[in-house]
Amino acid sequence: MSKADTLSPEQARERAAYLRDEINRHNHLYYVLDQPEIPDAEYDRLMRELQALETRFPELRTPDSPTCRVGSAPLKDFQEVRHVVPMLSLSNVFSEQELADFNRRVEERLGHGGVVYAAEPKFDGLAISLVYEDGVMVRAATRGDGVRGEDVTPNARTIPTVPLKLQGQRWPALLEVRGEVIMSHDGFEALNRQQREHGKKEFVNPRNAAAGSLRQLDSSITAERPLEVYYYGVGEVSPGWLADTHMERLQQLREWGFRINAHVRKVTGLRGCLGYYNEMLDLRDSLPYDIDGVVYKVDSVAEQETLGFISRAPRWAVAHKFPAQEEMTVVEAIDVQVGRTGKLTPVARLRPVFVGGVTVTNATLHNQDEVERKDVRVGDTVIVRRAGDVIPEIVSVVKSRRPKGLQRFRMPERCPVCGARVERIEGEADARCTAGLSCPAQRREAIKHFASRKAMDIEGLGDKLVDALVEKGLVETPADLYELTHEQLAGMPRMGDKSADNLLRALEKSKHTTLARFIYALGIREVGEATARQLALHFDSLESIMTASIDELQEVEDVGPVVAGHIVNFFREERNREVIGRLIEQGVRWEDAAPRQGKQPLAGNTYVITGTLSSMNRNEARDRLQALGAKVTSSVSKKTTAVICGENPGSKYDKARDLGIEILDEQAFLSLIGER
Ligand code: IVH
Repeated sequence: MSKADTLSPEQARERAAYLRDEINRHNHLYYVLDQPEIPDAEYDRLMRELQALETRFPELRTPDSPTCRVGSAPLKDFQEVRHVVPMLSLSNVFSEQELADFNRRVEERLGHGGVVYAAEPKFDGLAISLVYEDGVMVRAATRGDGVRGEDVTPNARTIPTVPLKLQGQRWPALLEVRGEVIMSHDGFEALNRQQREHGKKEFVNPRNAAAGSLRQLDSSITAERPLEVYYYGVGEVSPGWLADTHMERLQQLREWGFRINAHVRKVTGLRGCLGYYNEMLDLRDSLPYDIDGVVYKVDSVAEQETLGFISRAPRWAVAHKFPAQEEMTVVEAIDVQVGRTGKLTPVARLRPVFVGGVTVTNATLHNQDEVERKDVRVGDTVIVRRAGDVIPEIVSVVKSRRPKGLQRFRMPERCPVCGARVERIEGEADARCTAGLSCPAQRREAIKHFASRKAMDIEGLGDKLVDALVEKGLVETPADLYELTHEQLAGMPRMGDKSADNLLRALEKSKHTTLARFIYALGIREVGEATARQLALHFDSLESIMTASIDELQEVEDVGPVVAGHIVNFFREERNREVIGRLIEQGVRWEDAAPRQGKQPLAGNTYVITGTLSSMNRNEARDRLQALGAKVTSSVSKKTTAVICGENPGSKYDKARDLGIEILDEQAFLSLIGER
């Protein structure tokens, strides 16, 4: 019998009210302030208790109940909502000059210089309006045409950053708050992964995904989508409540429980605006969500009123747009590149287009499945996206612009470089050239990898030079690099005496390395930096790695049967053993790995992990703890230092509570291992 079954109706009403407030408060602590007080498991327990009460006493289900975050019965269509205060749009500027003109007009109308602006990111999502009556969210609407929007109340209720009830004690009887519904990059990737797995259509970008998710007739679908809101303004509000400046108003909203973005700031004059723009432009790629510019708003509300509006946009605010990250262009060809491990990658050659701040001429198409899914054909008009430092990508084909008679792209059956057979193993996305190091493309890429910064770190040996050295037949394997002469190097294009000297010195220097780097540099399939480090730690010499069996290799963290197979195959190959022998003869060396040491800040501590962590799986969590010297066991006892609890923990959580053992939630765990 659960607690809900034993309470009288009166007790149940009180308990439900307490639970609603408590859950709403923890929700705010978690999603808005990023300062959770209780583990997720405890939150889930409170939620389940409230659900049980509401099932037994349906009359206790109120509109501010957090149980409605799971969504409710689907709608037939959306009701129309009229915005009493219209939801305006912003005019845009795209250059310093246009911004200077805007600022000048503001100064002229206000009759003074040094105007104070509130500067904010311009979030790339869709606007939402939330109405609170007596502190309870009663209506949510999209912007629509600015005057008439759609009622999306049940959907908005499912979004964790939509407060169902205001925080604090005092608020206006009527409060309309406006903000932007967005989807983070992580949320977007996860959603698309899921769509793919279920054979459903993927979303082209986070904004479309956010819009599609909010405008669902079935709010239980919205509930599954990772939506978030940042708030940036107000609509209709009972008079006399709001502060006199925009910045202070945002602070009021923050106190009522709305999430305000951390990058909002006051700036002064044109210079202040430009400084903010440049700062946010630099930050853009590191933000976990898309922004397409910044917004400047005259901070003083009295001055906003003086300035007023022109048609649909205020004269007191402007959006300063960043260079677009998506543009349209034409696919002129699709080439197939061969990588270090033989992987075939189709690459679209594009009519040059300026996007994300640079001119883009190539975009990766990843693999055969990707080309087929997107159905990109030579001659197609496509949308190209370049965000940050990532390789430009084709988002989608503009099918309406496809000329008649374009041929579907087909992956070649023979390696486009060496003509060897191409194979695609069942269940793998990638097609590979089967020629190994006899394929010149694989050889070239293997040498580039060997020389790269995280491998042997040979300064001055760039990709172009490697291409030229391989082309001239001067270098076939990494070992040939150390036999290059001054004359040979000085004779290469764009090289002279001085750069040849420098490169020879860099080659000499690179010989002194670490075992981990050396293993990584060999370019064994699926042996990345981390695995190479683990291998070096586990086996203390190259000899023992080279002679290890598949079983022995699997004792190493991260190494499963597939990777172990790649390692054994690599060292079995006569050609590889010969190259390694030559490298060592040429003087490549490293200190023999010292016995496991380094920082062991958690030595002597014992942890138990239970439930699902969102940032890593349990094995990874165990490895991380062990790397810091901790012991990880599977059952809780008095000797346990702490229990790490993810989502839906099992009985270990209860046991830890009974024994009075410390419980760490995921955040606390991440800071323990130095991740936060
Ligand atoms: S203020 C009167 N602030 O941009 C001013 N809008 O083009 C109304 N947006 O519909 C909007 N970030 O969806 C404002 N920090 C921000 C914004 C922002 C994104 C969107 C919003 C609006 C559109 C206007």
